[in-house]
Amino acid sequence: MIVTIDGPAGAGKSSIAHQVASRLGFEFLDTGALYRAATLAAMRDSINLDDAERLASFVGTIAITWRDKAVWIDDENVSEQIRTPEVTQSIRHLADVPAVRAELSQLQRQIAAGRNIVTEGRDQGAEVFPDAECKVFLTASPLERAKRRMRQLAESGRYLSVEDVLAAQNQRDLEDRLRDVGRLRAADDAVVVNTDGMLPEQVLDTIVNLAKERMGDN
Ligand code: DC
Repeated sequence: MIVTIDGPAGAGKSSIAHQVASRLGFEFLDTGALYRAATLAAMRDSINLDDAERLASFVGTIAITWRDKAVWIDDENVSEQIRTPEVTQSIRHLADVPAVRAELSQLQRQIAAGRNIVTEGRDQGAEVFPDAECKVFLTASPLERAKRRMRQLAESGRYLSVEDVLAAQNQRDLEDRLRDVGRLRAADDAVVVNTDGMLPEQVLDTIVNLAKERMGDN
């Protein structure tokens, strides 16, 4: 069974998806981490990020894997290195290239094959797993999302103003929504959960109950 959780940056997808997976006893896949790892690999190899063809062929040659809830390039766990602002700002160069998306989508399907899994991203329900049994689109107002992001950054010692966080978030939202292939959107059969005013526990219960309902249907 596949549960997909899509939504914009800062909606709390990652922590919710993790918890949903552990409550259901499912595995968890963070697809943003795969895009981040591919971007990090391209930056390390000094690939010209404006050269879509080069990026597409490059991504076919690197060994990105997902194991132990972590992303690896060859035998190196890069889960920390993929979270830098430099990587975040460069991802769009790869995420905008359809051939790169096709490669990473195939990797996602390989990882999910034969498993009970919760996958988290932008295009999971609408494009990568159109037949997923349970699809959730998790969202929240821009201000709530920016505040959540500020708290996360503060935990790692980075203090930014709400204006700066909102500006960067708006820019990323725009990039995620305007992408020709794999753009951020709710699948027609996704359940939209707006978390404004909800406690994390309530969000978790809502999604877990929905998934259990769907499991019962199968
Ligand atoms: O979820 P995240 O912030 O780690 O994702 C990083 C970027 O990767 C995000 O801005 C868009 C891209 N991404 C994507 O295009 N498709 C996905 N399934 C997941 C992430």
